[in-house]
Parts: sequence; structure tokens; C-alpha cells
Amino acid sequence: MLRKMTLREHLRASTAQAHESIEANPTLARLLAQDLSEAEYRRILERYFGFFQPLEKDLSNLAEFVNRVPAFAARMRSERLRLDLQTLGLEISEIESLPRCEALPPHTKLAEFVGVLYVLEGSNLGGKLIAKHLRALPFTRPACLNFFESPDVSENWKSFLTFLNDVDSGNPSFHRDAAQAAQETFRSLDRWMAR
Ligand code: HEM
Repeated sequence: MLRKMTLREHLRASTAQAHESIEANPTLARLLAQDLSEAEYRRILERYFGFFQPLEKDLSNLAEFVNRVPAFAARMRSERLRLDLQTLGLEISEIESLPRCEALPPHTKLAEFVGVLYVLEGSNLGGKLIAKHLRALPFTRPACLNFFESPDVSENWKSFLTFLNDVDSGNPSFHRDAAQAAQETFRSLDRWMAR
């Protein structure tokens, strides 16, 4: 008999196409360009901030879910984006008035919360590759790479996968809700970044 997919396997399979699409997003693809300028990099971080900040704020307010995730607070990266943007010359008041995404993915059910967090956590993996590229560009310095240089990526990913196993009820509707929220997270960021 075929083994049932784990929650992680389900999430990975159901978002593989969305991951491919987002890698081809013209704004994000610029992150890996040799001729990326400081102004362009700042604008990409502004867009990331406009997505991560409201989403992480909402997730952080869901205390009963947050308490189940190991080191939840350290996983949040909006503050890192704030630091990078300040290094790149933005005033705190300018950061506060940046446009924020309102079309956020669903996240109020536990399964949806888990699906969204999977995408945010997974983005650290590609972030390592992006950080390596950015580090070699002439305008960058460590103080503007906090978002992509997030620390302990492998350890955090491992502990996140353990959390996914622990939270997995094996219930098909849980898998379905988590996968839909994960797909919607990719789509929503993709649309937001394309503007
Ligand atoms: C130019 C952009 C990107 C590149 C080059 C990239 C690259 C990668 C790579 C190489 C991996 C696999 C790493 C490994 O298995 O060790 C990965 C995994 C992942 N990435 Fe990306 N990525 C990009 C953008 C994103 C974005 C924007 C998101 C979401 C916001 C994202 C979400 C994920 C997720 C969820 C995984 C984990 C899949 C799994 O194994 O379960 N990626 N990415």
C-alpha cells in the first residue's frame, strides 16, 4: 500500500510550481543579477517589508499557535528588513509609511498558519543563495544584508520540519488547508512583488 504523504511532502509538492513561478518573478530575478544597483536592491527590500511586516504582525498575534512553534519570535524577519532599509538611508518615518500588502494569505486556522509559516521559513533556504550573490556586489555591506543573511538557517529549518511533523494530524483537510494557504502565500507575494 502507498504510504500517505507527510505534511511537508504535501506542502512541497503542492507549491513546487508556485516556487518555480516566483523564481521567475522579474523583480525577484533581479536579486541575482550582476548589475543590481543599490537603489534597485532598496526598492526590492521595501516591497519585501510591505509583505512581511503586516503578515508577521498578524501571525505574531495568534498566541495559541505561536506558542507551539519553537523560537517563533526569532523566526520573524521584519525587524531585519527595517535595519537593512535604515542602512540604505531610509528614515524610520519613511519605513513606517511604506505601502503594505492587504491581500494577505489566509492564516487564522492552525493549518493555514502552518502553511504560511512553511513558505516564510522556506524562503530562508533560497535566501542563503541570494545572500552569497549579494555579498559579492560592490555596494553591499553586512549592515544591509540582515534579511537575506538570517542566521542558523539549517538548524532553524530542521527544527521547523520537526514542528511540521508534530503538528501534522494526518487529517486530509488539515493538509488541504495548509497547502492552499501555502500556495496563496506564494501567489500573493508574487503579485505584490510584480507591482
Ligand atoms: C530568486 C528567488 C529564489 C531562489 C533562487 C530560491 C531557491 C531555493 C532553493 C535552492 C531551495 C532549496 C534549498 C535546499 O533544499 O536546501 C529553496 C527552497 C524553498 N524556497 Fe526558495 N528560492 C527563491 C525564492 C523563494 C521565495 C520568494 C519563497 C517564498 C516566499 C521561497 C520559498 C521556498 C520554500 C518554502 C522552500 C522549501 C521547499 C522544501 O524543501 O520543502 N523561495 N528555494
